[in-house]
Parts: sequence; C-alpha cells; structure tokens
Amino acid sequence: MISQHSPYLKHIYVCVNCRETGACCANADGEAIRAKLKAFVNDNGLKGKVRVSGSGCMDLCSKGANVMVYPDHQWYGRVTLEGADRIIDEHLRPLLAHADRQNGKTPIRAFLFDLGNVLVRFDHMIFARKVTSRTNASPDELFRLFYDSPLVADHDLGKLSFQGFYERLKEAVSLQVSCDEFKMLWNSIFSENAEMVSLARQLMKRYPCILVSNTNRAHFDYCLNTYPFLEELTGWVLSYEVGVLKPHPDFYRRALELAGVAPSNAFYIDDRQDLIDAAHSLGFQTHRFSGDVKPLLNELKDRGIDQSLLRPV
Ligand code: FES
Repeated sequence: MISQHSPYLKHIYVCVNCRETGACCANADGEAIRAKLKAFVNDNGLKGKVRVSGSGCMDLCSKGANVMVYPDHQWYGRVTLEGADRIIDEHLRPLLAHADRQNGKTPIRAFLFDLGNVLVRFDHMIFARKVTSRTNASPDELFRLFYDSPLVADHDLGKLSFQGFYERLKEAVSLQVSCDEFKMLWNSIFSENAEMVSLARQLMKRYPCILVSNTNRAHFDYCLNTYPFLEELTGWVLSYEVGVLKPHPDFYRRALELAGVAPSNAFYIDDRQDLIDAAHSLGFQTHRFSGDVKPLLNELKDRGIDQSLLRPV
C-alpha cells in the first residue's frame, strides 16, 4: 500500500447513485452536475489539480443532488445544474486566480470579434464605384459621405431607418437608384474571411465568442443571411441595437456582460487601431487585425491558448 498526500488540491465528489425506489441523486441531475464541474476543470487548466468524481450514495438521498468538496469539508445538498455555479465560484475560481498570480499571465476567458474586415471582409469603394455614375458626386465624395458622416453614424446608431438613410442620401447626391437596388448595392461589399471564421469556430468550442460591431440593420441582416456561422456565436453587440458606437465604454460593457468576464480576461480583435487603443485603456487584451491571421495565431499561442484550437477546422 502507498500512503502519501493527495495529488489534488481539491477533490469533488458528486453523488450519481441511482435508487430503484425513493429519491436519488441520479434523478436530481447528478451526472449533469458532475459533467459541468468536470468541464470547468478541463477548460480552465485545472486537470491534475482538481478531481471531480462520481460517487455512490452519501445517505442523504432526499437532499440530492449531493456534492462534497475536500479538503474543504463542504457539503452541498439540493444542488441544481445552475446551482453548481456556486460551487465553481467558491472552490474552483479561487484556484484560477492563484494560478494566474503565480505565472504572471492573465488568462483569456472570452473573445470579442469585430465583424468588418475581421470575420467578414468589406470594401467600401465597391459600392462607391458602382453608384457614382448615378449620382452627381465623385467616388471619393461618395466614400466620404457614405462612410464618414453624421448620417452614417445615425444609421449605425439605429436613429435612422434604412429607408430614411436612403432618402437622405438620395437628396444629398441626386441618387438615381431605387431603394431596393440601393440596398442590394449597399450590401455588395462583403466577402467571408474563411480563415478567421475557422478560428472563431474553433475558439467557440471552449470560450464565449461575442460579435462586437458598429453596423446597421441592413448590413447585419444581409450578413446573417449570407454567413450563417454568425448564428453560432455566443452573442452579438450591435451598435444599431444598443444605441452606442465603439469605442464608447458602454458598448464594451455590454460585450463583457454577455461574455461574463472581466476586461482583463477578454481578448478583443479589431482592425481599427483607435478602437483597439480604447479597449486596451479599459483593460482588455487586444490584437489589431492586419488582415493576416498568422500574427494573431502566434499571439494566441504565446498567451497560452490550446494549440489544437489554433488549427483550421
Ligand atoms: S443517492 Fe445520492 S445520497 Fe443517496
């Protein structure tokens, strides 16, 4: 027989016992609770430090599901799947904070992806060139008007409907295009960035991944129909829905709420340096996306992201 200190910092026993008659933990989500705790351990690098075991009956059957945590000598009864979060908060998260202090790295617990020129490429000039002959403006004038004006900001903030946006532009540059054709041309600027979509899909297996975009309903509806992977993301923060634009701190706060993490645990990818700088000053980990996925993959590798997630799907 060998006798030594336990190799684990914590050992969590979840009763998964099934009784033929009367209450039992198997009928009170014991297995699902065990799986949830185990997933947290595996996903947060605690394997080898924390052991989650399914146990036999603890003789507290009417109070199931029952969970015991050692060496804390803590018993939890009537644990639900949602209630398991409390066990995670009280016994497992403190271990993460301790590990972070020891290795001097702040772990990434969620990703925020910009849409335009990150997950989806776009070229404003495609639209300007297609439309210029049907206006009294040059492509450069159109570019400035369409993409760098209070009109566009109001549209992206949801203050102006697509119809209203179209009518204001029509008046401003004598636009001779129907509203339907205008919408089709307006949406013709996008193409998928397959490498970034593949990376996001991989990261989604373990991390909340939130879309954070200054955009308008017409563009986003089009992207959602054309690029269904957007539905797979954990959530979206869209300027026209929340009524603020990046880099307003409220915008980033909404993203953190959706992801359920602190700024220091969020990794934010955007192509605009001003937005990156603003998020960095709020405490985010950031990467300015240049269009080349390799520097991003190298940075994620350096920051400790599992390499299996950095390979194409
Ligand atoms: S079945 Fe879980 S304590 Fe008895």
